[in-house]
Order: sequence, then structure tokens, then C-alpha cells
Amino acid sequence: MQSCFALPFLFNLQSGVLMDVKGVIADYWDKRSHTYHNDLNKLRADEHSIWVGALKDVLNGGEHLKILDLGTGPGFLALILAEIGHEVTGLDISEGMLEKARYNARARNLMIDFCLADAENLPFQDEDFDLVVSKYLLWTLPHPERAVDEWNRVLKPGGKVVLIDGVWFDPAINRWLRRNLSTLLAIVTERRNPWRFKRYYNPIKDRLPFYSGVKPHELYTLFNEAGLTNVSLKPLSEVQEFYMNCGSLSRKIIHKEPNFILTGEKIRC
Ligand SMILES: C[S@@+](CC[C@H](N)C(=O)[O-])C[C@H]1O[C@@H](n2cnc3c(N)ncnc32)[C@H](O)[C@@H]1O
Repeated sequence: MQSCFALPFLFNLQSGVLMDVKGVIADYWDKRSHTYHNDLNKLRADEHSIWVGALKDVLNGGEHLKILDLGTGPGFLALILAEIGHEVTGLDISEGMLEKARYNARARNLMIDFCLADAENLPFQDEDFDLVVSKYLLWTLPHPERAVDEWNRVLKPGGKVVLIDGVWFDPAINRWLRRNLSTLLAIVTERRNPWRFKRYYNPIKDRLPFYSGVKPHELYTLFNEAGLTNVSLKPLSEVQEFYMNCGSLSRKIIHKEPNFILTGEKIRC
């Protein structure tokens, strides 16, 4: 198991405000880890091949890669990538999530390093990984530009950053209505507590630049300013279609929000 000292270090150095935001986020995901992990286990078998297909363009045609999965949660991408033979480290700010991720890796006989740390302050040396991936993390980061700089730092030259996200909290009225309908369904069918999310995130959402979603040109700027090249953004149409056909009713509604995959490459020297 990798030893990761970044989190206490970060907490000693950062201002009180930043510490609060990160503390709130870690606390929320600790509490959400149980239901999030259950969702993952319900859908895993079918989702696996859909996501392998969605990632195949960034996996260098089967070459063995050293991969860092940021905001790994219960290990969704880390498990898929380890299952197809890559050397994976999963990192998260929530110990609750990492417990679930370790459990999921053990249950599948997979060797994955899991590390409690902050995706904006990585405890790794420069040029350590071939690929840095994150799924559904960007929207909850207070300093996305700092984060992408860090991701670029730990990449080997020619390595790639892969970011998967969606426009989750678009304030447009039709999307707002659909989101709330999805929430109501989740309360009834999945016994989730949606007010917990609002209680945690409403006070901090103004500090999260991408909380309400991102526009493609902002992402290009984010990656280009971090020094990444060959930046490309694609819609995740197959993934979207999968959730439309196979997910729970509440997921079907929320997954109409566009999902995308953004990749950028570290300049070779
Ligand atoms: C929406 S979940 C996504 C989990 C997983 N990637 C997935 O797709 O199922 C967001 C995850 O990011 C983690 N997270 C939030 N802020 C973080 C940070 N600054 N550093 C590392 N992880 C963070 C949360 O604890 C949570 O596990």
C-alpha cells in the first residue's frame, strides 16, 4: 500500500476557508459512500464493457500503463483499468470512499494502491504516471487550474490527462425541473437523502468554479494553460445511451445531461 502524506500536509498549510471547503466535501462523500458504493455494485457487469469501449482511444492500444485515478470514489475507473491489466493507483479525499474502493478491489482479487490525498496537491514525484484519469471530479474542485497543473506535473512526457464529466447542475429551467424529478424518484426508489447533498454543497458551491457545469472552450483553456497539447473533447454517446436503456429511472433522467471525455497530452521533451 502506498503511503500518502499529502492530506495532513495540505491541511496544515492552507487557509481556514480552503480547509473548510475541502473538509465539507470529504465529510459529504464519507457519508455518501455507502449508497454510492451500492449504486456501483448494482450496475457493474454491464457498465464494464461500455466504459472499456469509451476509454479504448486513450489506452495506447493495450500497452501496460501506470495510471492514477483521481477522485476514485468506490474505485469505479480504477477497478475497470486494473481488470484490463494496468497498474493503478486510486486517490480520494474521503476515507469512507477509499474503504469501499479497497473492499471492491479485494472482492475482485485486484491489486490497486489506494491513497487518501487531495487531487489538487498530489503526493507523487514528477513524471510518475502514463495516464491520469478522473471521472465526475472536476465540478467539485475549488481550484481546477491548480489541479490540472498538478496532474500535468505527475505525467511522464507524452502521457495523457483524461477527464470525464457532465453538466450536472445547469441552472436552465428544463434541466432544473428534470434534476428535481430525478431526485424525487431517487428518494422513493433508492432511499437516498437528497437534502444532505444540498445541506453540504449549497454553502460552498460558489467556491467551486465548475459546479454549474463547464463550457467546452473553458476546458480547452484549462488544459492549454496547464501546458497540455492535442486537447480534444468528445461526447460520451455510448455511455449516455447505456444509462438511458439500463439505469434506474432516476439515473435515466439525470443522465440525459451531456457527458463528455476530454483528453490532453503532456509535451514530449
Ligand atoms: C461524484 S464522486 C465520483 C467517484 C468516481 N470517480 C465515480 O465516477 O464513481 C466524486 C469523488 O471525488 C472525491 N473528491 C472530491 N474532492 C476531491 C479532492 N479534492 N481530491 C480527491 N478526491 C476528491 C469525492 O470524495 C468522491 O469520491
